[in-house]
Amino acid sequence: MRSLIVANWKMYPTLPDSIVLAGEVKKAIEHLQGTEIVIAPPPCWLVPVVEHWGHQLPHVHFAAQNVWPEDQGAFTGETSVYMLKNLIHYAIVGHSERRRLLGESDELINEKVLACLKWHIRPIVCVGEEKKVSDLATSQNRVWGKLIEQLLAGVAGVVHERIDQVVIAYEPLWAIGGVESAQPEYAGKVIALLRSHLAKKYGPLVAERIQILYGGSVTAQNAADMLRQKGINGLLCGSNSLKAKDFAKICELAGKIGA
Ligand code: PGA
Repeated sequence: MRSLIVANWKMYPTLPDSIVLAGEVKKAIEHLQGTEIVIAPPPCWLVPVVEHWGHQLPHVHFAAQNVWPEDQGAFTGETSVYMLKNLIHYAIVGHSERRRLLGESDELINEKVLACLKWHIRPIVCVGEEKKVSDLATSQNRVWGKLIEQLLAGVAGVVHERIDQVVIAYEPLWAIGGVESAQPEYAGKVIALLRSHLAKKYGPLVAERIQILYGGSVTAQNAADMLRQKGINGLLCGSNSLKAKDFAKICELAGKIGA
């Protein structure tokens, strides 16, 4: 399985910034065929960035930062998977910023996941605990219970045959924002916990094939240690995906270390 590296540009670059960044990123990653790379520009710049990108590279795809589950209708300000389906291969779904700031529920996130699968778009479902806890000790069962709930609610109704189209991104909320990433061993353990619950639902062989990423203050410096953890199949990068050289370095490390 190739590692998957996702760039979430959030609401940072303006249109001219996005075009310049896309050009720099393309130049820096076009030779890195050993890694699957996904770029999520701000929604309003998705079309100009894809158009400017020009010649498609087989290992690079675009993602939406969010989608709406209905195909068409009176949903002011929203964009459906159906409308984006020819532009994107992936969609970030349930990012913690949307859960926290816009009150997105597990049910809505699940509808988005199912809509993505209906249109053959791979959803990247974000889950993560709010507060930093010291370890996976049973005293913290409430925290882990909530995390598992997010995971299982997100994939509710996804059949065995389709679950490997779903990507899970484990993003502890306290680690997002470029200040402090989780320790690689900690992230590895939580991801193993998530996978064990997917194994209970889908069986161990299927669960092994589900890509689970780590996200939260990923840098060119900590990426290798994260990717060396068993079960971490890739990374979701925010702030550092806005620096073409750092992002390319992360993609290069992913190609060398593998998933
Ligand atoms: P960060 O963001 O890399 O800036 O922490 C990650 C994310 O929110 O997806």
